[in-house]
Amino acid sequence: MSAYGLLFRLVLRRLDPEDAHRAAFALIRAVARVPVLRTFAAAYLAPRHRELRTEALGLRMHGPFGLAAGFDKNATGIDGLSMLGFDHVEIGTVTGQPQPGNERTRLFRLTADRALINRMGFNNDGSAAVAARLAARRPAFRTVVGVNIGKTKAVPESGAVADYVTSAERLAPYADYLVVNVSSPNTPGLRDLQAADRLRPLLTAVREAADRAVTGRRVPLLVKIAPDLADEDVDAVADLAADLGLDGIIATNTTIARDGLGLTSDPALTAETGGLSGAPLRERSLEVLRRLYARVGDRLTLVGAGGITDAEDAWQRILAGAGLVQGYTAFVYEGPLWSRTLHKGLAARLRVSPYATLAEAVGADARTRKADA
Ligand SMILES: Cc1cc2nc3c(=O)[nH]c(=O)nc-3n(C[C@H](O)[C@H](O)[C@H](O)COP(=O)(O)O)c2cc1C
Repeated sequence: MSAYGLLFRLVLRRLDPEDAHRAAFALIRAVARVPVLRTFAAAYLAPRHRELRTEALGLRMHGPFGLAAGFDKNATGIDGLSMLGFDHVEIGTVTGQPQPGNERTRLFRLTADRALINRMGFNNDGSAAVAARLAARRPAFRTVVGVNIGKTKAVPESGAVADYVTSAERLAPYADYLVVNVSSPNTPGLRDLQAADRLRPLLTAVREAADRAVTGRRVPLLVKIAPDLADEDVDAVADLAADLGLDGIIATNTTIARDGLGLTSDPALTAETGGLSGAPLRERSLEVLRRLYARVGDRLTLVGAGGITDAEDAWQRILAGAGLVQGYTAFVYEGPLWSRTLHKGLAARLRVSPYATLAEAVGADARTRKADA
């Protein structure tokens, strides 16, 4: 067992999951504040592999693997997370107004299934405060920063577009890419915005807001979708995204389904309300990704998320059409060496594959299937 595995079993597992998150994140930030420590930590935890260099969304990255939204909701620890080897860090979800999120307890560990259930409810400082924080940031490491935005709970559905627009205007100047999150299960009505007739005006308005706020470059815009969409709705989002000239789709957010929880024996735990993430999500997220790639191919950057635990998972997503991959839940179970180990395994897979570059591997499975058909 690794040192982190031992720490997890003996200490972290006994702490309330949200307290453990806060403590771990505080430690990461503390290390990153000390120049000599962060340099040594990054040298070990974030070694770069030339062959994994990635270009996506018009951005150059050290590799394809990032930290998904929700871990650093308020952009307080980007350097620390970059120090741990994530090639991009997606902050947020950030909403138009600050809000406390749902009442605690709102995060649950399903350790045997390597899963989490959360109903955090977009606890965050609001887009004005987060924009000010990003404006004041003096990066210690070069990394790609994605900004994920969502709707303030207290804003009625009729004001949803305006709420997203407010956040987009404030945050686009600091975003390497912007994500419209319409897929979290913990804000009532949010996922209804995935319907094409609601999504079109929302994405159009956010695109215009980003263009108003940033004139020197075009901020890439993505939409993040739920794994619970019916297949036809996945197709409809793909068509809409292509039609609007969106830059990408993140597939997927957490699920409200409870499939694949074979190992957690406590029925009260699996019945907790919220979004399920981690290993049980792997199959459906991969399926949604495949469907998207079949529909839009290389026209958009597809970002694979949901249950990615190791290099094999990441490699499968890339072969299925993901230009980028990201994760969150496995970080909790794998610890600070997660990114290092995953990158190493990914580089090894690429080396023994028939593909000369990572870019060549993107979507290779789908092409093979087509050729076989
Ligand atoms: C505790 C927690 C909080 C999350 N918060 C957000 C969020 O604020 N916005 C968002 O788009 N996704 C959020 N997510 C979803 C993740 O970004 C990711 O899409 C999902 O967990 C699937 O990936 P995973 O299985 O690797 O965790 C959250 C996930 C977890 C576990």
